[in-house]
Amino acid sequence: MALHLLYVTAVLADEGMWLPPLIESRIIDMQAKGLKLSAEDIYSINRACLKDAIVQFGGGCTAELISDKGLLLTNHHCGFGQIQAHSSEARDYLKDGFWAGNLNEELPCKKLSVRMLLRMKDVTDQALKGVTTRMSDIERASKINKNKTAIIKSEVKKGEQATVESLYYGNQFYLFVYQVFEDVRLVGAPPSSIGKFGGDTDNWMWPRHTGDFSLFRIYADKDNKPAPYSEDNVPYRPHTSLRISLKGIKENDFTFIYGVPARTSEYLYSEAVKYIVTYGNPEKIKLRSIRLNIMKNEMAQHAGTRIKYASKQASVANAWKKWQGELKGLIHLKTVEKKQALEAQFAAWAVDKPEYNALLPRFAEYYKKWQVYAAVRDYQMEAFNAIEIINYAAAFAPFTDGQNTVPDTVMKRRLQTRTVDFFKDYSPIIDKQIFVALLTEYLQHVPEAFIPPALQEAHKKYNADVSALSDALYTHTIFTSQEAVERLLQQNKNELVQVLLHDPLFMLYKNSNDFYRENVEKPYRTLQAQVDALYRDYMRGLMAFQPNRDFYPDANSTLRVSYGKVAGYSPMNAVYYLPQSTIEGIMEKDNPDIYDYNIPQRLREVAAAKDYGRWAENGTVPVAFIATNHTTGGNSGSPVLNGNGELIGINFDRTWESTMSDVEYDPEICRNIAVDIRYVLFVMDKIAGASYLLDEMNFAM
Ligand code: ARG
Ligand code: GLU
Repeated sequence: MALHLLYVTAVLADEGMWLPPLIESRIIDMQAKGLKLSAEDIYSINRACLKDAIVQFGGGCTAELISDKGLLLTNHHCGFGQIQAHSSEARDYLKDGFWAGNLNEELPCKKLSVRMLLRMKDVTDQALKGVTTRMSDIERASKINKNKTAIIKSEVKKGEQATVESLYYGNQFYLFVYQVFEDVRLVGAPPSSIGKFGGDTDNWMWPRHTGDFSLFRIYADKDNKPAPYSEDNVPYRPHTSLRISLKGIKENDFTFIYGVPARTSEYLYSEAVKYIVTYGNPEKIKLRSIRLNIMKNEMAQHAGTRIKYASKQASVANAWKKWQGELKGLIHLKTVEKKQALEAQFAAWAVDKPEYNALLPRFAEYYKKWQVYAAVRDYQMEAFNAIEIINYAAAFAPFTDGQNTVPDTVMKRRLQTRTVDFFKDYSPIIDKQIFVALLTEYLQHVPEAFIPPALQEAHKKYNADVSALSDALYTHTIFTSQEAVERLLQQNKNELVQVLLHDPLFMLYKNSNDFYRENVEKPYRTLQAQVDALYRDYMRGLMAFQPNRDFYPDANSTLRVSYGKVAGYSPMNAVYYLPQSTIEGIMEKDNPDIYDYNIPQRLREVAAAKDYGRWAENGTVPVAFIATNHTTGGNSGSPVLNGNGELIGINFDRTWESTMSDVEYDPEICRNIAVDIRYVLFVMDKIAGASYLLDEMNFAM
């Protein structure tokens, strides 16, 4: 019992990502720590509140409204793909930055949309209507799916979109109703030498000096309703936009974050964590190191390749570094051992409870089988699908597998767009080297029984020489030539299918993928569904076992609130990190010879003259700060707010020692990283000369 209580107090701290309507249960704690707002100020469906200023940006990030003309603030790395899409060697907005001089110069972003939550509510009873304990998992899932469709149909009005999401592994269901805006335009971005300052060298690290921000604007039709892009659209007028505070922060100040975290797994069974630590992360890190080294070499040699691969390389490097921090953190925290100890207590408690006492042995049994497939899957994703040309050829598969659900003409048009996008950023020199290196790893590490026969034959045919195999494939496939693919897309369906069925690379992909789907993905899915069903019971069991513990649902790309305080930390013995960085740190790192640290000349001059304007505090400009808010991927771009709900920074990262917080949060070490709003405004005002945008913002008195 004593141990059990200890666990309870240890996990309270600042951990958790709370559903906004349930913030009432935390509001007393938040207020005691410095929040000056009520629960209704944060989330209400009856009146304007902070939630109205928050959107999910492009599916993977968060952004916030900061003016009553629809001005949106997010990270540079969240806008990166859009900034890149508008760039070329002649007009390189990644390198030089971009600032629209007026509304007419704002750049429409074809594939960008933002999603704004209108309301959410608990629909557990409706979602589980007619579900019985005697149902099989498949019957249960299909019943719930039907219920979800019915819920959405009865709750959603015209112009709205909705999803029903499960929380706590299917023990609870919530309806989320959204408005989706498709006309979103790029307003401004600093040069990468500010927006990505420190690059992948500093990524996931503290101390940090990245001006990781960019600006967009939501446009709506004349009635302020979402509408596809049109010249006639006008800036969106939100119910609420955030006020900006220039008062600054100090250690221990209360902060909170509103955003859309994507995914956490806080309640994993110990074997799942053991897999991450002993196999999953180490192997994935190795495979990405190989890929990154190849890209890096080529990018260093050719400016054109550097632009083409900038976005790809950043995204490959990002998870690569995260996994390294997570691995280190889980080992350091002894998460596996802690979970095992908890499971032992749970088992003792569950002995006489028939609904729970068989759970752990079944977990153990399933995970033994699960690991085998998980390992092959990791290789499939990180070694086989990571080859760009295979991924691209895969997009043509609907023609040959008879599963095409859209008309051929639509499919062809999509592939035409895909083809232009693909070749715009493709280097066959890089891809071929990656093919050879990754396929070699794949063939060495995937158990023979799971290597597709087509791949084994091809390998044999070239006397186990992967390089010779790649020569043959890249020479004879049409997928290395934009012209050839475009010609193919002109042909009628029968001709097109014939070409595909005779293309060696396409066929290697197709045969391998058919085999993989049947022999790996299918059994994996079955096991995963069984494991998930166990988690559903385990989660309920844990809640009964620890009635005093405040459980928060794992992140699932729905709106959440986290809160904590500005705080430094000690990453290792005898070292303490202060919570705030300043412009002097940029000057210390500045180095024209190092790509990641080469700042714009203008920033050097302004800093030398100490021309900081109203953005200074104590003779310097604050740049970034860290706090204890529990965040994860998807929280990028989230507003960091002070006790009054005013904007003080934009979240953009965690320290790499914190990344295990997706599995176990440690209040001593876990820190989110935000760019200070005063540095953002300083850059706009003094470096970009975009001070006209400040006129539409609201500053707190
Ligand atoms: N680590 C941050 C996040 O996970 C920022 C990534 C972008 N920055 C970079 N240097 N790659 O997504
Ligand atoms: N940069 C991350 C994102 O894109 C946030 C960092 C994290 O994982 O906490 O969402």
